[in-house]
Amino acid sequence: GSLQYGYSLGVINAPQKVIERHYGRSLGVWSEAVQVSENQTEGEGLILEPGQHPAVTMYWSLSVSIFSIGGMLTSFLVGFVGDLKGRVKGMLMVNVLAVAAGLLMGLCQMWRPHIMVIAGRAVMGFYCGLTSGLVPMYVGEIAPKSYRGALGTLHQLAIVIGILLSQVIGLDFVLGNDAFWPILLGLSGAPAVLQSLLLPLCPESPRYLYIVLGKEQEARKSLYRLKGPYDATTDLEEMRREKEEADKEPRVSIWSLIRSPVYRDQLFVALMMHISQQLSGINAIFYYSTSIFEQAGIAQPVYATIGVGVINTVFTLVSVALVDRAGRRTLTLAGLGGMCFCAIAMTVGLKFQNDYAWMSTVSMVAIFLFVSFFEIGPGPIPWFIVAELFSQGPRPAAMALAGCCNWTSNFIIGMTFQYIQGWLDSYVFILFAALLLCFTIFTYFRVPETKGKTFEEISAVFQKGRKKNVTDTELQQLKTSTDA
Ligand code: GLC
Repeated sequence: GSLQYGYSLGVINAPQKVIERHYGRSLGVWSEAVQVSENQTEGEGLILEPGQHPAVTMYWSLSVSIFSIGGMLTSFLVGFVGDLKGRVKGMLMVNVLAVAAGLLMGLCQMWRPHIMVIAGRAVMGFYCGLTSGLVPMYVGEIAPKSYRGALGTLHQLAIVIGILLSQVIGLDFVLGNDAFWPILLGLSGAPAVLQSLLLPLCPESPRYLYIVLGKEQEARKSLYRLKGPYDATTDLEEMRREKEEADKEPRVSIWSLIRSPVYRDQLFVALMMHISQQLSGINAIFYYSTSIFEQAGIAQPVYATIGVGVINTVFTLVSVALVDRAGRRTLTLAGLGGMCFCAIAMTVGLKFQNDYAWMSTVSMVAIFLFVSFFEIGPGPIPWFIVAELFSQGPRPAAMALAGCCNWTSNFIIGMTFQYIQGWLDSYVFILFAALLLCFTIFTYFRVPETKGKTFEEISAVFQKGRKKNVTDTELQQLKTSTDA
């Protein structure tokens, strides 16, 4: 699921020019004849580069951005799908969307390519909105507490491998060319076929079975399948306590979660972590790295972009190894702080590149380090920390809200970055540096450590905070009345 998400994020970059040409042809605004004929000029109704035509640009932008709109819409349904038939069956069901999307894009030349690709990207967005919530929820629920961070980070690892894979097979001598680009896009649906074969081997989440459905025996069986024969008493006891808590309250819907003062602090932290992941500017690099490298004077920007993909994967692996030892809070702080410095270094590099030739190396190293710091903490942690911050009752609604926040802020960056760049020019990364500084301060003051804690212990951290606030308020009231 996560691999597919990463692949779909990255696949649209490399073959942009090739696909634009096909759009131009099928819209009747461009043909090869015009390009090769030197006598022909733009004034004759046809254009030299399809990307210059407003209709092609519009259909292209839509092909890119409709993916995030699809994700924004379905991320709200994560709780509903996950609770309907369970986490595993939920993930299995939504694969239909991925296969349909793959077919629409793979067979796009059978009808109007631009319409087929846009439809395919929208359906793929629907799929990814769901999978980007269902996967971390399932993994968070089945992981033993001492490996919850490492297993949670595997979601991000699969995303970054998907991005890298799409960058490599999108090169023009592989599939990113005139003949094979529909296959390149169509392949986005392939992992769903494999996943449909493998998911039936995965045990259902014991927490879902016991806490949501009340099936203790099935939960026990599932625990044995996950961990082998062992004494499950402690795990079941922990779930029983969580179930008692959950049974005391009515079902937590998205709306009741937003309004409830009980979960306010947790929700604030969860949403802020997703917002800081996206507004750190990471996708400005992933969507526009080739043009950023070009602007920074790098000779082979496409290969530098693949370099970013490799660094991205390597540092996610580092995070898998560190996250259960160093902790979520420390890695997020180090990551955001490091990114802030790198954003400043990028600005210096871009500003002075015309004065000193070596400044382009400064920019390139700063971009590589920016991505490395992202993958140490701010990349993987928000995806799985939401499942840690909430107990079983509010978890699906919280995952839905956090996912929607992530997709919305991703969409905003994708749509606005080029305009902001036009406006701020070489100072564009100063904006991200300022935001990153605010997010670092927020994390320092508000994000608690969740490493090695049970879900109950994590909620207790927030409840303690709340009780303290109540006591402070009560004290204030007492003081006021005494003064009066
Ligand atoms: C995270 C982000 C995603 C980004 C990726 C880069 O998964 O959610 O938007 O593209 O990291 O590695």
